[in-house]
Amino acid sequence: MDPSASGLTQRLAEAGQSHLLQFWGELSPEEQANLTHDLQGMDFKEISGFFKNAMETSSSTKHEKMDARMEPVPREVLGSVTRDRESLKDWELAGLHCISQSKVAALLLAGGQGTRLGVSYPKGMYDVGLPSHKTLFQIQAERILKLQQLAEQKHKIKCCIPWYIMTSGRTMESTKEFFSRHNYFGLDKNNIIFFRQGMLPAMDYNGKIILENKGKLSMAPDGNGGLYRALGNQGIMDDMERRGIQFIHVYCVDNILVKVADPAFVGFCVQKGADCGAKVVEKTNPTEAVGVVCKVDGRYQVVEYSEITLATAEKRSADGRLMFNAGNVANHFFSFSFLRDVVEKYEPKLQHHVAQKKIPYLDAQGQLIKPDKPNGIKMEKFVFDIFQFANIFVVYEVLREDEFSPLKNADSQDGKDTPTTARHALMSLHHRWLLNAGGNFIDENGRPLPAIPSLKDGTDLPIKCEISPLVSYGGEGLEELVKGQEFHPTLMIDEHGAHELVKNGV
Ligand code: UD1
Repeated sequence: MDPSASGLTQRLAEAGQSHLLQFWGELSPEEQANLTHDLQGMDFKEISGFFKNAMETSSSTKHEKMDARMEPVPREVLGSVTRDRESLKDWELAGLHCISQSKVAALLLAGGQGTRLGVSYPKGMYDVGLPSHKTLFQIQAERILKLQQLAEQKHKIKCCIPWYIMTSGRTMESTKEFFSRHNYFGLDKNNIIFFRQGMLPAMDYNGKIILENKGKLSMAPDGNGGLYRALGNQGIMDDMERRGIQFIHVYCVDNILVKVADPAFVGFCVQKGADCGAKVVEKTNPTEAVGVVCKVDGRYQVVEYSEITLATAEKRSADGRLMFNAGNVANHFFSFSFLRDVVEKYEPKLQHHVAQKKIPYLDAQGQLIKPDKPNGIKMEKFVFDIFQFANIFVVYEVLREDEFSPLKNADSQDGKDTPTTARHALMSLHHRWLLNAGGNFIDENGRPLPAIPSLKDGTDLPIKCEISPLVSYGGEGLEELVKGQEFHPTLMIDEHGAHELVKNGV
């Protein structure tokens, strides 16, 4: 179709984006149709508004005085699995009760592109090399199944934890196909709801949309804060309302230890009457690259490590801990009513953050250029930018070794947050569960293996032990399977019992 006849040429001219049609004559009819389709679906006025605002915010001096405006999380809004041990059981029971009433949903943010990990498929499909070779999606699905079962056993009532999965234009089809191929990992497919976040074009510093090839714009998901818009425009809030959901656990796909719909976290937030909450781990190293939850000008927010000076990052409280130590693990709690307010009222107020990127582009001759320094921006909203609107906001501190080991990067020597570190974190947690339940490991000569692997001679690798989430959600229920028994690694405990896997075997 002729772009002038359809009014597209004119719209593009008005938006200052005429260059997007510069290779029109070289495109096949199919490519022309696809490009027309993409361009017609775009609101150029809105995009150019986003661009202006984002550039203004990022170049303003707003960040400069961040340090002076920050305050740590006050103790009264903080719940801690170590410092408040006596309340933990109560929180867990309260959360389990809500789950048994089918009031709790899990919401997975899985629209990222996994660029750092370097895979072309959704990160949730990644196999980190556990003895079972389960993927992140499968591990999470089985945790949901088990938690439903625990709530049902406790309260003698059938319940369900709906699982909302946010994908992007790039990950939707492969994610859905993967779940269907694996029979939804035993979950009821009617309770897994996929939805799609928005995409935004990459732009150069003058606000011109970048072409990825002659007939295609360079597009990227609009950040994990794209969640709120997607929840509204895809009818997800209505679905939640229909199901009677009151509490939502939002989390990121990449943490292999994630306690999906964690009853203790949910129970803590519910008992505090919170509309929003964040799970954190203690940041112990000032230069660790995690955002910290804190107050800025009296409102809660996450401040990224890049926004503060080293002096602030290094500040310590009287007890010797870092003053800004609430490391964000991207696990958030929402009450349904607060989430609905965010979707309906606050979302438009959120600013896009600007990420300066090296974005491949076409030169005037149509040659693809891969720049070696940033040449444009991608715009993203962040999921935690709504903390500021909460009336009652709480923070829940957990142990890193029990709950946080994200998969961000490909394997490399001494790499951080890699498939190897994720695999080791999970096996080492499961080893501790086994020891706590009264089991032990022995070597091939029948000698007990030390509970803490030795650092000498490089044998500080975790003992190979994997416990299926279908058997235990958080370390519970293992005594009858392991107490007083000795095992050789590799040990696998699943719904068929405990079995040692032969060396180099399965
Ligand atoms: C995120 C947190 C950071 C935290 C860290 C812990 C944000 C903005 N930052 O950082 O504060 O310390 O996790 O691991 O939350 N995603 C989408 N759509 C997108 C982009 C991302 O769904 O458009 C999802 C990803 O699939 C992933 C999650 O959001 O599940 C986190 O995204 P990522 O870009 O990896 O965030 P980090 O920079 O690691």
